[in-house]
Amino acid sequence: GAPVHFDLAKIQPGQMVKVEWRGKPVVLLKRSDEMMIGLDKITEHLADPNSLSSAQPGYAQNSARSDTANPELLVMEAVCTHLGCSPVEKLAIGPDPQMGPDSQGGFFCPCHGSKFDLAGRVYKNVPATTNMAVPPYIINGTVITIG
Ligand code: FES
Repeated sequence: GAPVHFDLAKIQPGQMVKVEWRGKPVVLLKRSDEMMIGLDKITEHLADPNSLSSAQPGYAQNSARSDTANPELLVMEAVCTHLGCSPVEKLAIGPDPQMGPDSQGGFFCPCHGSKFDLAGRVYKNVPATTNMAVPPYIINGTVITIG
């Protein structure tokens, strides 16, 4: 499939958009400072916090799962690694019926209840066992190219 381009200047901190790449929904989420801090608060609840068993480019194999030049930007295939449903974003930090009382935000899969954080990292004790995939991307100025 052809690469997809998007102007990141259109996304405010704390907001996300979805684009389509190779027929898959790809999330572009500009994480706020609060969202970034939350990533380190839940490490013990995650199945693969360092993404050792998950799919991402080498430059995104870190706790935020992002290019270190643009750490706040999450670029992620919004496809549940259990059986491929589309998880629902839960961007608010705080108690959430699906994410739990101490949610730091994340994604919830309505099909069988898998939970992921705002880096797409999967929680323990849910049907999915690997983090959602990060596609290859590069950022030039404000424009991202996926693929
Ligand atoms: Fe997401 Fe089963 S497809 S939990």
